[in-house]
Amino acid sequence: MSSSQEAVTKGNGEIFGQITTYDHEQVVFCQDNHTGLKAIIAIHNTVLGPGLGGTRIYNYQNEAEALKDVLRLSRGMTYKASISGLNLGGAKAVIIGDSTKIKSEALMRKFGRFVENLNGKYITAEDVNTTTKDMEYVHMETKHVVGLPELMGGGGDPSPVTAYGTYMGMKAAAKNVWGNDSLNGKKIAVQGIGKVGGHLLGFLHKEGAKLIITDINEEMLASNAKQYSATVVKGSEIFSADCDIFAPCAMGAILNTENIGKLKCKVVAGAANNQLDDENIHGPMLMEKGITYVPDFLINSGGLINVYQEYIGYKREIAMSKTEHIYNISLDVLAKSAADKIHTQRVATELAEKRIKDILNVHSTY
Ligand SMILES: NC(=O)c1ccc[n+]([C@@H]2O[C@H](COP(=O)([O-])OP(=O)(O)OC[C@H]3O[C@@H](n4cnc5c(N)ncnc54)[C@H](O)[C@@H]3O)[C@@H](O)[C@H]2O)c1
Repeated sequence: MSSSQEAVTKGNGEIFGQITTYDHEQVVFCQDNHTGLKAIIAIHNTVLGPGLGGTRIYNYQNEAEALKDVLRLSRGMTYKASISGLNLGGAKAVIIGDSTKIKSEALMRKFGRFVENLNGKYITAEDVNTTTKDMEYVHMETKHVVGLPELMGGGGDPSPVTAYGTYMGMKAAAKNVWGNDSLNGKKIAVQGIGKVGGHLLGFLHKEGAKLIITDINEEMLASNAKQYSATVVKGSEIFSADCDIFAPCAMGAILNTENIGKLKCKVVAGAANNQLDDENIHGPMLMEKGITYVPDFLINSGGLINVYQEYIGYKREIAMSKTEHIYNISLDVLAKSAADKIHTQRVATELAEKRIKDILNVHSTY
């Protein structure tokens, strides 16, 4: 075999090298000159069911960055679905460009046709910079879409359900650390009070938590501070806030060496995706510091649970009750982490991988 053939077989090329790294099943590049659509759909693993994951529109610096993002996010969806016990695989799509400039009915519908061509192997939904309205356009071209408005039989915005799941995961961590899951009187610092963080504040306030909040949106900060009697801190001050629990609900990769060094809390439990900058470094670092970390893809799986219910026939009560189960799964993960002395993100990943292997075996016979 020639060295170039060998490189291709091993997946050493620019694209296949990346696809093989996380063992993706299929990656589809979609382009349309008329609408300017440039999209990548990454299907990571469909052992448990069709790959479900939202479509993100983002102005990536370059194509390599877009590919990296979609590969990483789709893999996360596989784990999220698996650990939540859903019969779903992991997938995700990105559309490259500035959403305020490129988004149109035609672009979303063209994208919908590409989704349709995958015959249900990929189910799309909303994500960063896409809305339920955009999903309505996608739905005009394919039925393989969830996150539709309630009036169309969909589950609507999944954020309140994600917030409820985050609240459940946080209560499980409290039980694990303080022997009691009450958040009454606990000092909780919330970074990002958008769709999920905002709803989370409601649950925490109702239970009597003392809230510390930050956001880059000053207007929202002021109104939430008033509504929930919360203390406002500026920017990165949230990391060193005097609190029991830190809830990252804004962007990813914020748990890095510098920020972890500043934390005074005993628990990190928030909704943001991909919170650990490097899970192999920062997962163990949190554990060594005696901080209980509820893995992101577990604690924020309420949104996925909600859209899965939409896929099989939507009932809000069922979505909420399945989301409540995040409490028990979190307790299991935290107990196993303590018993095996392995950081929680690894424990959750191993549980997710085990379920996929077990179900693959179930499907190995007729
Ligand atoms: N919406 C869902 O159902 C859902 C599901 C799973 C995971 N998540 C994750 O949860 C996080 C929040 O999602 P969302 O839907 O609430 O998004 P959102 O955009 O509604 O809210 C994010 C908030 O964070 C604020 N923010 C941005 N940068 C910040 C910074 N540097 N410091 C402080 N605040 C900052 C924004 O102003 C905004 O208010 C994201 O990481 C998202 O990927 C959301």
